[in-house]
Amino acid sequence: MTFLSETEITAIQNIIYIFSSILFITGIKMLGKEDTAVKGNFFSALAMFIAVSITFIDVVNPIILLSGIALGAVVGSLIALKVKMTSIPEMVALFNGFGGLATFLIAWSEFDSNPITFSVTAGNLFQHALVMTTLYIGGVTFTGSLVAYAKLSEKIKIAKTSIITKIFTTIFYISLPFLLYSTFVTPFAVPSFGFFTVLLVLTLLGGIGFVLPIGGGDMPVVISLLNSFSGIAAAFAGLLLSNNVLIVAGSLVGASGLILTVIMAKAMNRSISNILFVGYASSSASSSSSEEQGEVSPISVADAYLILESASSVLIIPGYGMAVAQAQHVVRELGELLEDNGTEVKYGIHPVAGRMPGHMNVLLAEANVPYDVLAEPDDVNPTMDAVDVAVVIGANDVVNPSATEEPGSPIYGMPIIEVHNAKTVFVLKRSMSSGFAGVQNPLFFKQNTRMLFGDAKESIGGLVSEFKD
Ligand code: TAP
Repeated sequence: MTFLSETEITAIQNIIYIFSSILFITGIKMLGKEDTAVKGNFFSALAMFIAVSITFIDVVNPIILLSGIALGAVVGSLIALKVKMTSIPEMVALFNGFGGLATFLIAWSEFDSNPITFSVTAGNLFQHALVMTTLYIGGVTFTGSLVAYAKLSEKIKIAKTSIITKIFTTIFYISLPFLLYSTFVTPFAVPSFGFFTVLLVLTLLGGIGFVLPIGGGDMPVVISLLNSFSGIAAAFAGLLLSNNVLIVAGSLVGASGLILTVIMAKAMNRSISNILFVGYASSSASSSSSEEQGEVSPISVADAYLILESASSVLIIPGYGMAVAQAQHVVRELGELLEDNGTEVKYGIHPVAGRMPGHMNVLLAEANVPYDVLAEPDDVNPTMDAVDVAVVIGANDVVNPSATEEPGSPIYGMPIIEVHNAKTVFVLKRSMSSGFAGVQNPLFFKQNTRMLFGDAKESIGGLVSEFKD
């Protein structure tokens, strides 16, 4: 592109970057609705492709860039193709981590290549602070995400009270004041290189210490927070490189990750600080709700069928167990058979049912359950007493009445789907074991509840066969 001046190339790049940014924003907006989500995803990917492609115009050695893109595309596609739906949070954790690593390396190279960082003055302090903050957030996101991945996939099991956890947590708490010290104090006094090396090490170890004490079950929220961190770090890296599209894309990821974190915390009725620094384990220690509370009434598939067959309204409440059993397709089949039988069928979807945001919506969409039969807790709770049968499929915490009835319970205050107010409740699960929050569920012992024990796919499959016979 020798026929264009440097200024013209920069102008063209910026125009294309603005176009890519508009595509990003449009794509994200479209992700909010089920019928436009696939297109939205495509638009966002296209925006990224265009943004990366236009960077080529003035790259001195495109081979390096091309190799990076090819390697990233192959590794990313292989992982995405192989991953199971239930493992998506782990994949997101890994991808966040790589995003953090990229910004960590950008900030490091800026520090090395830009001599102002060695002689910080009041005039260039902002630039220096930006380098240090980008490096810190990127580094913490990288190692923190690796720990989140390992915890979620149960590759590491280290207790929050163990000495290893305490050592890493202490390093995390030391790394924060050290970041401030090496940003605002040392550069003016001495050349900061020695401090910089210490900061690199503290940052990477501190990321481990940030995530290690958090319970494995809280990882989806942490991953969403780390996702936000990776976006913020990318936006800062955009400022460092004066790259507009990186600033926009990073800000979008940073803001949406933060919003998602707040939504998840709210739906679990917990503050973000409770998730990060307390966890369920400690709050549930004093709860009496971990004990069994009487006799349960089991039911067979054949008897459950007889009740369903005469029901005029059925509410299906899926949870994590439906995802584990991969029962969404037979659930849709059962819903259709019930409708053919004249029953009104709805699905009650709790915002944190499952293990990732929108988990149930994604599974049901995959099984072609129409979007208009899905309802939120606020829509179904007021009319619950008119529901003939509430069929709880592998859900536990999101239907636990302790959340409304037992002030001492760790989940007290969490919004739930109040299935206990339905005329009859079927709970499909394999055993009496607790759900994610680790507390017993009084629903199982209520007079109107029948336990249909077994794998959800097999139990629902049995009901489908009964309807077909
Ligand atoms: P959980 O409370 O975790 O309960 C899932 C139930 O599924 C378990 O009791 C389990 O009982 C049953 N199950 C597992 N495999 C099964 C199978 N193959 N067939 C039948 N049942 C099976 O799930 P939930 O009600 O969906 O609640 C989600 C929990 O995760 C909430 O506490 C929420 O706060 C938390 N959480 C969610 C998110 C997001 S974003 N969704 C993020 C962080 C935390 P058995 O072992 O006896 O079968």
